[in-house]
Amino acid sequence: MCGIVGVVGSRNATDILIQGLQKLEYRGYDSAGIFVTDKNKNSVLVKAVGRISALQEKIDIEVNGTSGIGHTRWATHGKPSKINAHPHVSANSRFVLVHNGVIENFKELKERYLTDDKLVSKTDTEIAVHLIGKLIEEGNLSVVEGFRKALKLLEGSFAFALMDRKDSEIIYVAKNKSPLLIGLGNGYNMICSDAMAMIRETNRFLELYDEEMVIVKRDSVKIMDANGTVVKRKPYIAKLDLSDIGKGAYPYYMLKEIDEQPAVMRKIMQKYIANTNPHQMKVEQEILEAVVKADRIYVIAAGTSSHAGWAAKAFFEQLTKTPVEICLASEFGYNTPLLSKKPLFIYISQSGETADSRQVLVKMKKLGYKALTITNVPGSTLSREADYTLLLYAGSEIAVASTKAYTAQIAVMAVLAKAVGEYIGNSVARSFNLLQELSLVASAIEALLTEKKQIEQKVYKHLQNTRNAFYIGRGADYYASMEAALKLKEISYIQCEGFAAGELKHGTIALIEERTPVQALISNKEIASHTRGNVMEVVSRGAKVLTIVSQDCAQKEDDIVVQIVHPFLTCITMVVPTQLVAYYATLQRKLDVDKPRNLAKSVTVE
Ligand code: F6R
Repeated sequence: MCGIVGVVGSRNATDILIQGLQKLEYRGYDSAGIFVTDKNKNSVLVKAVGRISALQEKIDIEVNGTSGIGHTRWATHGKPSKINAHPHVSANSRFVLVHNGVIENFKELKERYLTDDKLVSKTDTEIAVHLIGKLIEEGNLSVVEGFRKALKLLEGSFAFALMDRKDSEIIYVAKNKSPLLIGLGNGYNMICSDAMAMIRETNRFLELYDEEMVIVKRDSVKIMDANGTVVKRKPYIAKLDLSDIGKGAYPYYMLKEIDEQPAVMRKIMQKYIANTNPHQMKVEQEILEAVVKADRIYVIAAGTSSHAGWAAKAFFEQLTKTPVEICLASEFGYNTPLLSKKPLFIYISQSGETADSRQVLVKMKKLGYKALTITNVPGSTLSREADYTLLLYAGSEIAVASTKAYTAQIAVMAVLAKAVGEYIGNSVARSFNLLQELSLVASAIEALLTEKKQIEQKVYKHLQNTRNAFYIGRGADYYASMEAALKLKEISYIQCEGFAAGELKHGTIALIEERTPVQALISNKEIASHTRGNVMEVVSRGAKVLTIVSQDCAQKEDDIVVQIVHPFLTCITMVVPTQLVAYYATLQRKLDVDKPRNLAKSVTVE
């Protein structure tokens, strides 16, 4: 959440900052700002409410400094407004700061150190920059000394980029819990929350670790640990392709990403299944042993990623013979259940940056428990800090609503479960031909994608003018319903619940009235008649129903029919039509599909 960029020593600092912020807009898009300065200390600070395009409109061609910092915000403290937008400045405006994260003790700091300061915003960041300025000036300290002193007083998460108007050729950086990278340019250096923001300028990056402070100049980068000891670190090459980030001819990234799902399934097969033997998974022995040694798997995740965990639970248990618990990251760290004797933690996270998941990882690592991260982003925090990583190979996912990462997460969990099942000689795993089954999944998705037009028409009719809706399903379809409901509500703002079909009658059916839309998912022949019974119950109370069914359960009047795939994998195929339902319902409402209100792609605050 929130994106930070910075550059020192380039002739076109403004352009680098704006381009970078555009790439980081997925991290927050309620307001933005930049501070740009040149060698002669001429500087300008511009802020705007709304998207980066609104900021761009306010930037004069005259703003052509050589160094600067920029920020795109996802509000935590203080509503989205120009005053609350970053950068913030110290009492006499000498210091300028951008911040990603949350300062938890901001009130105490304000009461203790800043009672006489006039603060204009409602942000924790303004308190941080006032504190830094005060410590430096009143203590007659160097910027590094004063900054370090302030950092010791701050509690919470932060990635900071600080500039001093007295020396416009330095950015001071500090990091704790929130991500930040240094980009190495030719004759200039940069900082950014995500390599994607600076990939146009460089592919050489330096990772930063918690509690480090960095002095970034045009021709040097000095990293220091919490005690001030200089740390030597080699850069890494980020393998990102700019064309991967574009949306081509698509109106929205979400539609492009939905369409990419068959290709992602095939990529996962290619990366994880041996060419010579379809039953041999390419998963490191160490990972297999970690799973086999565990008496219980704890899947830690948030939102859509936790739904992927629920979707995978049943097949993971059947193939590995190990019980699996799915835990919400935001709850687990503070409400930890009684753990089994030999737990293994699997962190599922598209971004690999989710703060809720990371706080669990840090706590569980301290207790000595191994961590496996399943993520789309190599080098992300959760990947770096885990013992093992399995990548999703889904390509950059830009739309805030996750689609291809969700289906890839289930597929990669299937790869792992199959690999472990083979390793322990489980006959269910032996007879599960994942190569063949994932190929069928890819074809089933392709077939669905050819029906977009019909789905669009049905959605327009079914969800027109509604403010609420329900998804219902049993078993795997219940988990798919949870994901389907999240997708619909987060982008179309239709209030939607994903419900266990049989549970509805235990209270919630009271909400069904004339023309309430209900979407029923039916993919399991054994229990189809029960779900159909639940459909009849809501129809009798006035609901209008849209059915999404597997071919082997289909009846003449069903709305969307999905090709048959292995029961372990229906959570992938059944969700695809619901992604399209969410997409078209949002188009119908003329909303921004890719950037829904109040959300951000990477949730780096707890
Ligand atoms: C919804 C969505 C979110 C994320 C959640 C966790 O479409 O994308 O619910 O799944 O914020 O994010 P990651 O997977 O990056 O940990």
